[in-house]
Order: sequence, then structure tokens, then C-alpha cells
Amino acid sequence: MKFFADTADIDAIKELNDLGMVDGVTTNPSIIKKSGRDIIDVTKEICDIVDGPVSAEVTAIDADTMIAEGRKLAKIADNIAVKVPLTWDGLKACKTLSDEGTMVNVTLCFSANQALLAAKAGATFISPFIGRLDDINLDGMELIEDIRTIYDNYMFDTQILAASIRNVNHMKDAALVGADVATAPPSVIQAMAKHVLTDNGLDAFLADIKAADIKIL
Ligand code: G3P
Repeated sequence: MKFFADTADIDAIKELNDLGMVDGVTTNPSIIKKSGRDIIDVTKEICDIVDGPVSAEVTAIDADTMIAEGRKLAKIADNIAVKVPLTWDGLKACKTLSDEGTMVNVTLCFSANQALLAAKAGATFISPFIGRLDDINLDGMELIEDIRTIYDNYMFDTQILAASIRNVNHMKDAALVGADVATAPPSVIQAMAKHVLTDNGLDAFLADIKAADIKIL
């Protein structure tokens, strides 16, 4: 499963990228707002750091303006994926931009039928929002499973990009059900390294290192 960093935090992206933990980056208007920076500037800086796809979201809701915005975003770098919402106009923009050779990430997906439409419109990525479905007592991971089955049934090559990931269990479950990509805040990716038994075991080893005065350097 590929890891995308769901952030515009440049330091966090650099740290994860240096570790080989980042295969791409996703942003959205809320993430850009949090960065406090101009969308074009911050997106360009991210594209200079990361080789993989960098999603930048349109601001319009009508197809023509989304297409114009998408064309401008696509000029930032070769690895831009234009993010459009899963609306009828968003699907029109997806089709046009995909036909022009631009990667498109269709976002705000909450049903398998929406994902089916996005694949037929040529999306490179579909972004089902796991956490927000869990928030309303639905099963976000079940949606990923359903989309996996449908895409495999018909050999769609649209990649399932599990989004709205809130915790490490979401990461594990997304990998188990076959999501192609999971996009997560850097804190969640870092938390995957944590285990209480690792910490306890290390404490015991450190005590013995001290007691026996074990030195390597
Ligand atoms: O990838 C989409 C993500 O940024 C949304 O996450 O936690 O706001 O539902 P969240």
C-alpha cells in the first residue's frame, strides 16, 4: 500500500520523504487554510520535494471553472493530481482533465456508486472518506472493501485512495482490504511505529545495558 501524507506541513513532508515513507501528498482547502500560505506557492514547494502525485483541490463547483482551475494547477508540476469533488460537475471536470492526460483525484466519496462513476470518468484516484463515515456510525472500511470488489470485478485501474484516516487501525485495515493508497496525517504514520511492548522491552534492555556497562562505541 502506498502512503500519501495528508498535509501541507513542509517539515513533516521532508522528514517522511527522507525516510521513504511518502509516495505522494494530498491537500485540500482545509489543509491549505491551516498552512496559511498561497495554494500555488505551497503546492509547488511540495512538488519539488516529493516525486509522487501531489493532490491540489479546485475551489469552483461548476465544471468549466473546475477545468480552468485544474489546468492552472496542472501547470505547477508534472506530478500534480487535480482534486475535484464527487459531484456531477466534478465528474465532468474529471473526464475532461483525465482525457488531457492530467491525473485526477475525485474526493468526498461516500458510496460505492460514486466510486463507480469516478472510475468511468477516468479518475486516477478515488478518495473514500473513512473517518467521516465512522463519525456517523457507518462503516468506512466496508466502503473500501465494496469499491475494491467493484473495481476488481471490472478491472478499473482507478486507484483506491483511503482518506479521512484518523488512526493506526485505519491504516492496517485499509492495507488488509486492499486499498491502493492510504493518505494520513504525519502523526498517524509516525504512530504506526509505536507499541507499548516495544517501549517496555527497550526499557528492560536499557536497564541491563546500564547494569552491565555494555559499550559498543
Ligand atoms: O484526505 C481527506 C482528509 O483530509 C479529511 O480528513 O479527518 O477531515 O475527515 P478528515
